[in-house]
Amino acid sequence: MSQTFSVLLLSASTRPNRIGPAVADWFRRATRDTAADLHIDLDPVDLGDLALPMLDEPAEPSEGDYQHPHTLAWSARVAAADAIVVVTPEYNGGMPAALKNALDYLYDEWAFKPVLFVGYGNTSAGTRSVQMARQVTTALRMVPTGADLFLRLADSRFGDTVAPGAAFDRRAATALAELHRIGTAVRPLTLARRPAPSAPVASPFGRELWLHPAGPRDAAELLVLQRCCWVDEAIANATLELGALRESLDDVTAWLAEWSTWCLRRNGRLIGAVRARRVGDSWLIGRLMVAPDQRGRGLGRALLRHAEAAAPASGIGTLTLSTGRDSTDNLRLYRSSGYRESGPDGPLAVRLVKRVAVPVGADPSGPAR
Ligand SMILES: Cc1cc2nc3c(=O)[nH]c(=O)nc-3n(C[C@H](O)[C@H](O)[C@H](O)COP(=O)(O)O)c2cc1C
Repeated sequence: MSQTFSVLLLSASTRPNRIGPAVADWFRRATRDTAADLHIDLDPVDLGDLALPMLDEPAEPSEGDYQHPHTLAWSARVAAADAIVVVTPEYNGGMPAALKNALDYLYDEWAFKPVLFVGYGNTSAGTRSVQMARQVTTALRMVPTGADLFLRLADSRFGDTVAPGAAFDRRAATALAELHRIGTAVRPLTLARRPAPSAPVASPFGRELWLHPAGPRDAAELLVLQRCCWVDEAIANATLELGALRESLDDVTAWLAEWSTWCLRRNGRLIGAVRARRVGDSWLIGRLMVAPDQRGRGLGRALLRHAEAAAPASGIGTLTLSTGRDSTDNLRLYRSSGYRESGPDGPLAVRLVKRVAVPVGADPSGPAR
């Protein structure tokens, strides 16, 4: 069985009423058959929705020592991609600042990944923007293809829809196939750790399972799954006083911006999720959920392992999570995964901790902690 090839479809404009997502949507429509034939998953990212602040990491991205949840989430999303399609407008003869910022946030995650540009604009059809972006992506060691596409909006835009015509559709399909060919060849070179959608979650269960970083568009489904799962927690612990049961859509959207979160889908349906973030030297894992009809197949354990593996490479001493005092199934999973109770977490919950043998980056001969 051929392996899924993951392509980040990055829409680079951020202003209200932007046409960028419609250009990305045209690319997705035009390449649907090619993507299906070559087992390519397109992961659309709208930089307007992603809302990265201007680069605010204290360490240089080449060190990979990220502090902020938005950087960790962005890193995981780019690291999971085999190739990148950048859909970019031209602003004043160059690329949008938001694209430069999104590129600057990371380093090894981009390296040796092929990049295809879809430029668009007025008379120059995005060519000068792409020229500038190529210079930057080359510095990031990305691999250019020779198949970039340039759309003149006057010829391609019909209201809110972008449809440049059959010839462009064919060129888009050819360009994606070329991206796949190059990406497959250079895949062994990529540097960043991959929270891959394949092993360990997908491989035992086949291609229909897909693990991906969560974004704002997943918030509504996460809210529904979370409420469904925390009803069981309410019954097990005889209480309705559970934050996860009472959160609103706005609450979920807000924490999605602060946590690295992953969604597990089966044939498109959201069936599981987990979130994590760094607090001091601890990697906090939470909101581990699996839909009731999907339990008993090892998915919760696989999601837990995935969240553990996504911990920053340095400076983490403990993995920490919390569950209901009487949530026996959860407690069984966590204990058998090496976690030990470290005390109460409020009146109805217990905190569990797993020590990382030697914090990565620490001197193993140093004083005991
Ligand atoms: C700040 C700004 C600068 C622009 N500069 C250019 C330009 O240099 N060349 C061009 O072809 N179009 C230019 N345009 C027109 C854009 O191509 C057009 O507005 C397009 O819809 C922008 O993409 P977006 O809607 O995704 O933001 C500019 C638009 C904006 C907002």
